[in-house]
Amino acid sequence: MPSIVRNKDEIKRIKTYIKGFDENLQGGIPEGHIVLMAGSAGTMKSSVCFNILYNEALQGKTCLYLTLEQSYPSLINHCINMGYDFTKVNTVIMRDLGNFHNDLAKLKASQKGNLIMVDVGCIRKEVKDVKVSENRSWLNVIKNIVKKIKAESKLDLFVLDSLSALYVLSRFETPRIELFYIFEFLRDMNVTSFLISEIPIDGSRYAEYDEDFLSDGIIHLRLTPFRRNIVREVSVVKMRTTACNNDVFSLEFKNGQFVAMYGGQNPLL
Ligand SMILES: Nc1ncnc2c1ncn2[C@@H]1O[C@H](COP(=O)(O)OP(=O)(O)OP(=O)(O)O)[C@@H](O)[C@H]1O
Ligand SMILES: [Mg+2]
Repeated sequence: MPSIVRNKDEIKRIKTYIKGFDENLQGGIPEGHIVLMAGSAGTMKSSVCFNILYNEALQGKTCLYLTLEQSYPSLINHCINMGYDFTKVNTVIMRDLGNFHNDLAKLKASQKGNLIMVDVGCIRKEVKDVKVSENRSWLNVIKNIVKKIKAESKLDLFVLDSLSALYVLSRFETPRIELFYIFEFLRDMNVTSFLISEIPIDGSRYAEYDEDFLSDGIIHLRLTPFRRNIVREVSVVKMRTTACNNDVFSLEFKNGQFVAMYGGQNPLL
């Protein structure tokens, strides 16, 4: 739970590391917020979230990227192709629960910020007994990983890639109730969290159930056709405790940096 501040300058914020966007968000996202990163396929949801964690790890923070769908080699290769240097942070890949204690020791021993990548797909394959694997509550496995890292080391930021994959894996019987407790859990952990939400191309909804109301913020990424051009765009749908500009910005990744431009204007006219 966040503590009550005496004045607005005491609210600590995490940058989105999108140049031109943080300036329209009072400097960034309030620490401890749970933010939906919503977008259709290929809108750079994973990249934008990774970019935040990488830059925060460079500042000495401990950041956890938990992937359910895309394998860790695929994600890392994508990031290397974008120019990220994994040697600048302490990168710890968790892909086998049998090694969990060694992985935790690597976190504790590190002098640099930590970037932890947890590949749940790999962990599932390691659980060779199909019956055990299928009956296991993967949500509980994920919660225990988060809890243990927080307890044994520290944990500042968390990305879940993606909520949609978690629903498929967990086959919740009462998704709205389960979801409420997931949000409660993250709030208790006091970790700034980004939940990736895969949404339809028409942007008719930001999430599947009540996540848009439960979350503290929603950032919407999209690919917008204009004649024969496609423009990457980003906007803030909501951000609690923040006076933000809700205009739509063009989003570009150039020279190793995300940049938001032309808020409220049409760059192609
Ligand atoms: N420099 C770059 N290197 C690699 N990919 C880039 C680069 N710039 C833009 N991209 C684009 O990023 C897109 C993928 O980004 P990312 O995986 O973050 O998107 P996503 O929204 O998470 O996708 P998915 O829906 O598959 O999860 C690709 O379509 C790719 O063309
Ligand atoms: Mg992705």
